[in-house]
Parts: sequence; structure tokens; C-alpha cells
Amino acid sequence: MNIDIFLQNLKKHGIENEIPNISEVNAIFLRDLIKIKKAKNMLEIGTANWYSTIHFALELKNIWGKITTIEFSKLSYDTALENFKIAWVSPIINAINGNALDVIPSLGEKYDFVFIDGMKRRTKDFLELVRNKVEEGWIIIIDDVIKFREKMIWFWEYLEDNKIKYNTIPIDIDDGIVMIVK
Ligand SMILES: C[S@@+](CC[C@H](N)C(=O)[O-])C[C@H]1O[C@@H](n2cnc3c(N)ncnc32)[C@H](O)[C@@H]1O
Repeated sequence: MNIDIFLQNLKKHGIENEIPNISEVNAIFLRDLIKIKKAKNMLEIGTANWYSTIHFALELKNIWGKITTIEFSKLSYDTALENFKIAWVSPIINAINGNALDVIPSLGEKYDFVFIDGMKRRTKDFLELVRNKVEEGWIIIIDDVIKFREKMIWFWEYLEDNKIKYNTIPIDIDDGIVMIVK
């Protein structure tokens, strides 16, 4: 199986079924970041049909890394398990079916790369919960920050109130990301 074709088909399926996967440009950018930083332990919130997760896992696999990914839709979670097997990345993926707001506090590890892509209105809550689970000098990425700016008012307020330094990167015509380096 050719993994690039598999991912292209997964993305196509996402578009046809209105699943809001990250763009290919964004996936490549984030994979490069993982590579440059040599991330070993990643956390993803909101994984849908697992397009992004498989991209990240393929990069992490090269450097003996791993990823924990949280999704509250049972349907997406079940589809994911199949997709992981097909893409041969299941050994390095810890897929959790649950609400990230409940799951994150129970995670006993520190992460070096966090990707937040869950319900946009809860972005501030996700960030608040993951902040103390990220090592110094490591990265938190928040997706869809331009397109859904109004849904993320609390998130922007939280950044300001807590004097958190960040960069907004207009990654492609689809949208932009916020990058926080802790
Ligand atoms: C934008 S999609 C994720 C797309 C995926 N990251 C990709 O690029 O392929 C958001 C997903 O987050 C899930 N989600 C939203 N809020 C969540 C929460 N509180 N806990 C876990 N999953 C959540 C939704 O079910 C949905 O599948």
C-alpha cells in the first residue's frame, strides 16, 4: 500500500463527507516542525477520521516517538482503529475515546508537542488543561484560529490575561494556526 495515496484518499473522503481535516499544506508544515524539534511524545485533541493523526504518526515513527489522540465521537474512533491498522502506525498511537475535557486531567505524562483541534468554543479550556502538561521549550499548536476567531473569544482573552506569547501563522488559504512555544 502506498501511504501517500492512502492519505490522499482519506482527505478526499473527508471533503466528500464534510469532515474538517487539516489541509495538506498544514500537515506538511506540522510534520516539519515535529522533525525539526525531534518531538517524541505528542498529544492531539480532536482527531475526526484521523487524517492528521496518521500524518503525525508517520513522522513520529521515524524517531521512535508516539502520539496520544483524543476523540469523543465513537464512530470516528472506531473508523480510526481501522485506518491506523491500514497505515501501519497503530503501535505508536494511543487512541482514547472520550471527552478531552475529562481525559486530559487524568493523563499522567508530559508532552513535547500538543495539537489542539477540538470543539472551537472549548479551545481556551483545552489550552488551560494542557499547559502544565507541556515541557519547557516545547510547542502547542491551535488550529483554525482565523476562520473561527469569533468562536474563540475566550481563548484570545486567555492568551492576553495570562500574557502568553504566541505567533499567528496564516498557513494557507484554508486557515491559520497559533503557535505557542512554552
Ligand atoms: C476539526 S475536527 C478534527 C480534525 C482532525 N484533527 C484532522 O485534521 O484530521 C474536530 C474533532 O474534534 C472532536 N472533538 C470536539 N470536541 C472534543 C472534545 N471535547 N473531546 C474530544 N474530541 C472532541 C470532534 O468530534 C471532531 O471529530
